[in-house]
Amino acid sequence: MANFKIATIPGDGIGPEIVVETVKVLEKIGQLFGHTFEFTEVLAGGIAIDKTGEPLPNETIEVCKKSDAVLLGAVGGWKWDVLPGDKRPERALLGLRGALGLYANLRPAVLHDALKAACPLRPDIAAGGIDIMIVRELTGGMYFGDRGRKQTDLGEAAWDTEMYAVDEVRRIAITAFELAKKRKKKLTNVDKANVLESSRLWREVILEVAKDYPDVTLDHLYIDNAAMQIIRDPGSYDVMVTTNMFGDILSDEASQITGSIGMLPSASLNKDNFGMYEPIHGSAPDIAGQDKANPIATILSAAMMLQYTFGLDAEARAIENAVTAVLKSGVRTGDIMSDGMKLVGTKEMGRLVLEEIKR
Ligand code: IPM
Ligand code: MG
Repeated sequence: MANFKIATIPGDGIGPEIVVETVKVLEKIGQLFGHTFEFTEVLAGGIAIDKTGEPLPNETIEVCKKSDAVLLGAVGGWKWDVLPGDKRPERALLGLRGALGLYANLRPAVLHDALKAACPLRPDIAAGGIDIMIVRELTGGMYFGDRGRKQTDLGEAAWDTEMYAVDEVRRIAITAFELAKKRKKKLTNVDKANVLESSRLWREVILEVAKDYPDVTLDHLYIDNAAMQIIRDPGSYDVMVTTNMFGDILSDEASQITGSIGMLPSASLNKDNFGMYEPIHGSAPDIAGQDKANPIATILSAAMMLQYTFGLDAEARAIENAVTAVLKSGVRTGDIMSDGMKLVGTKEMGRLVLEEIKR
């Protein structure tokens, strides 16, 4: 029995709707397992721009720092797309990652049995199932490197810098190896060491850390090849570790082969396993406020929170099992709808998951 403080950031678009359903799920877990979750709602993204003039108010960072974990819906929308780079809602995400030291981004791409029909790959390719854990470095590389513009002989030019320090690579490598150890003991490192110096250092460090994990099988793919292999033979990958930039791209690709971006959760962790948890889909402004969004990715993000930050494995399994049961029963939100299934909205999906949660 324990008491946990959770900062919630509903954000923009469908964010508020899916966070509401997830808070209910956590409250039910609290009742069943005897924990209390204390929620404090804070602003980030477009709504924060509208209300305070900035995408990530200081107060939000402060509340997050004082909490045990953060639950985020989504940020962004057309309305704010015209703003300059450093004033856009997306700045809130990057700012939170940086300010909270969330360097380890876990993005599981799992093909649920009940959703096999949604997988865009040929059935024989996905036959063995898909269960890939992408471990993306989240506070370094080009996203946070030096950037700028200058005049050159060819006219105006702009640059972004990819730079990784040994310690930055080592800590994400340790995260990945530790995960691999608990899974199928197979880790694939993804880099571009045939071209980039930063990738060569990255790989050196991965190989160094590998010495501490003799029971984990390590292999390496260049990012271009990885993009290919992941759709050629997804079943042969388990944990994949890569840089911030490559991980951004590879995780979108991996999510798409599960056919259901509305299903996939994520965790962004710091060195103490404090974490921010969010669905990997965006704010979907086209369906916002219409009770159409799939709350499952956010609900599964809460399960990741229970597992990775709170160490409550049974509670996390209870949520995952409830989601599996609901999918099996044939209910679907629009994004995962297929022939013969029953279409439901955000609230009804949330209610059904809640009903299935058992101790
Ligand atoms: C993600 C998103 C973000 C990123 C954007 C919104 C800044 O694409 O979380 O993958 O590029 O990291
Ligand atoms: Mg992305």
